[in-house]
Amino acid sequence: MNPSIRKPLIAGNWKMYKTIGETEEFFTQLEPLVNGVNHCEMVIAPPFTALRRASEVAAPLGVGISAQDLYWETEGAWTGEVSAKMICDAGCRYSIIGHSERRQFFSESDRSVNRKIKAAHGAGLEAIVCVGELLAEREAGQTEKVLEKQLTGGLAALTEPDFSRIIIAYEPVWAIGTGRTATPEIAQEAHRFIRSRLGQLISPGAAERVRVLYGGSVKPDNIAGLMAQPDIDGALVGGASLQAKSFAAIVNFQGR
Ligand code: PGA
Repeated sequence: MNPSIRKPLIAGNWKMYKTIGETEEFFTQLEPLVNGVNHCEMVIAPPFTALRRASEVAAPLGVGISAQDLYWETEGAWTGEVSAKMICDAGCRYSIIGHSERRQFFSESDRSVNRKIKAAHGAGLEAIVCVGELLAEREAGQTEKVLEKQLTGGLAALTEPDFSRIIIAYEPVWAIGTGRTATPEIAQEAHRFIRSRLGQLISPGAAERVRVLYGGSVKPDNIAGLMAQPDIDGALVGGASLQAKSFAAIVNFQGR
């Protein structure tokens, strides 16, 4: 991380966990553990049903709230979908877009990622855009090719100002929920590649300002090594974000 250019960001992705009551309990427990934190931004992405309540109880803690997905239309006959405007209305500042579980199980494509980013920006949201390779792709030596394709397709036709509202999350699929974290060196290599590719897509200066988070089995005991890498600017945390204590320990990666 380079904190003089990029403020670290620790984001928790709750996936399909937690009711409204459990959300309230989490933030009650988190409050004393992150009191006074200002070395990094904190974000939590609860399920849709808890967004409104989460945004109310998280605001005094300085924790931003994110959706986990959105649909690109503003409104209409799209049963089951939720628009960026609705997510803003529920108190969110961010939305995750293109998470690998959406790509694997819900047919998310680079094209739909691109439409969702534009919709998020249109509604005033920042987009946390996920990229990452499968195990078979890594083993076949295709990591950079896959990242290249996801970045070029997902970020197509965005302007330089758009990139000030983009956060990239590099999440190797083989590391998600498996306990098999990428080593800091492997993650750094991918992050450096992502930043250089962003430099070609926009400009090297703008790419220096984009935060690139690492995700995949981030835990309190491996966060410090990851954050010590020059191109790792934070983390997108799944399992370890469900408990206030472990999320706070990750936020406090510098030790307190
Ligand atoms: P994990 O999930 O931390 O449980 O591996 C990360 C993610 O899916 O964003």
